[in-house]
Amino acid sequence: MNGDGPLNVRGVQVWRGFLDAAMQARLLTALRDVARAAPPVHPETRSGRKMSVRMTSAGSVGWVSDRRGYRYAPRHPSGAAWPPIPDAALEIWRALGPAAQLPDCCLINFYGEGARMGLHQDRDEASFDWPVISVSLGDDGLFRIGSVERGGKTESLWLSSGDVVVMGGAARLVHHGVDRIRFRSSSLLPKGGRINVTLRVAQGGDRVQQPE
Ligand code: SIN
Ligand code: MN
Repeated sequence: MNGDGPLNVRGVQVWRGFLDAAMQARLLTALRDVARAAPPVHPETRSGRKMSVRMTSAGSVGWVSDRRGYRYAPRHPSGAAWPPIPDAALEIWRALGPAAQLPDCCLINFYGEGARMGLHQDRDEASFDWPVISVSLGDDGLFRIGSVERGGKTESLWLSSGDVVVMGGAARLVHHGVDRIRFRSSSLLPKGGRINVTLRVAQGGDRVQQPE
């Protein structure tokens, strides 16, 4: 992992090239294992629209969305427990996150050609005291960062494979989204696409990695 300092974009830390090629490959292998145990799905929004991004999770809870709304759930829609958060992902948290708390959720987003994610806040967690740490793998993604408040100015930057973004402190609740990806800009994923991994403390407090 690379130790150069981060860029600061509207209070969000952007660590360019934080993961070297070997670490990206190691994380990808671990994510493939997660996806085998907990197959990614296109979640539905409350209105019944399918999201363009496919998602799965690791950890004691996973982020799910369906007609009942957004929430963290202890099980994959199939009924199976989520697999544990891979060590390769926890190492990134240990390097950049608070030592006092480990994440209990690792949300994995798969962006195929044309997939995007609208501007939103990460606010389904029990506490906003902990950062959200976001790792990009594969194709470049155009990441948009706004304000904590709705509306107003936004700033966009391309995130590449190995970049890590930390949304914490005053920037914990900034609006953010992915407008588009540059399909096949990276050769990390043989079929193209972008993976984003976010590490979160979903349940707050001291409840770390509770057994199911
Ligand atoms: C997210 O907000 O869950 C994903 C952000 C990203 O894909 O970079
Ligand atoms: Mn988000």
